[in-house]
Amino acid sequence: MKTLKEIQEYITHTIQQLNWNKAPRGLYEPIEYTLEGGGKRVRPALLLLTANIYDANLEEATAAAMAVEIFHNFTLLHDDVMDKSDTRRGRKTVHIKWNENTAILSGDQMMIEAYSQIAKLSADKLKKVLPLFNKMATEICEGQQYDVDFETQDDVTIPEYTEMIRLKTAVLLATALKIGALLGNADETEAQALYDFGINIGLAFQIKDDYLDVYGDEKTFGKPIGGDILCGKKTYMWLSAWKNATEEERRELMSWLHNQEAIPNEKIQAVRNIYTKVGASRECEVAMEEYHQKAVAELDKIDTNGDKTQELRNLAEKLMGRNK
Ligand code: IPE
Ligand code: IPE
Ligand code: MG
Ligand code: MG
Ligand code: MG
Repeated sequence: MKTLKEIQEYITHTIQQLNWNKAPRGLYEPIEYTLEGGGKRVRPALLLLTANIYDANLEEATAAAMAVEIFHNFTLLHDDVMDKSDTRRGRKTVHIKWNENTAILSGDQMMIEAYSQIAKLSADKLKKVLPLFNKMATEICEGQQYDVDFETQDDVTIPEYTEMIRLKTAVLLATALKIGALLGNADETEAQALYDFGINIGLAFQIKDDYLDVYGDEKTFGKPIGGDILCGKKTYMWLSAWKNATEEERRELMSWLHNQEAIPNEKIQAVRNIYTKVGASRECEVAMEEYHQKAVAELDKIDTNGDKTQELRNLAEKLMGRNK
């Protein structure tokens, strides 16, 4: 098991082996529905690629990989309620297919399931991994809270935004990588370089997500386009548009932001037009590339020729160009 493709097949296969055929169906069926719904499986892939570099125990790495993927999917159930999103991966979200109570409770159970996977680690590994996992989980909650707070805050700065996405998105990718390294007893410097690689890839990943929320193809992206605009999210698109807008364009942006009565599609179209006019998408690309370069520089601390980290470099490259 070495290449990204092999690892992804292994993840899909392992997820299929998880048993959700239990009662009550109202609790477990939505979990099964969510986990079989695909997704890119980025976080378990990062963990297993790293575990592979350091020759970690496969059973432990697999449990930890399941933990991060189940945890990620748990956050999505709750996130879709918070963001009022009705589609994900091209299908109805859990709170739409069932209801909000289901999204809350099945989500809770998924979090418990994630911790049960972590609990499979041997005592010495658990001692290192559990605090890391807890820290990540808390940081995601903090990031999600900032994300919601910023909806009603008009003066969010790019550094504040960057910290918000570091918390809500990047720390999970970073933690997945660091867990893979710890399970293989990597030295602390390399484990930290992998963590920092994950942070930078994660920041670029969320900026791309913000971009795709505006310009993505709904079918390919699998999520509704313009959802961030309707929620008043302070995305990278919004912040860079704001930075580059004229006084007149700023007035337009503000009036759309506060217009709750607007017809959704008209609002999305109008805000998108301003983004396009002021060149926000180009700024997204530049920021992403900057973070991508920073990420690669972290891997260069481990190897400059990609001897060990080539597959991670390939995955990072792939994520930069993603459309879904
Ligand atoms: C969605 O994550 C949430 C974000 C952090 C943007 P992914 O884009 O990895 O979602 P899936 O798992 O591939 O569907
Ligand atoms: C993702 O942010 C962060 C978490 C789910 C923790 P988004 O709200 O942008 O993710 P999507 O676009 O719904 O996948
Ligand atoms: Mg959200
Ligand atoms: Mg969302
Ligand atoms: Mg998004």
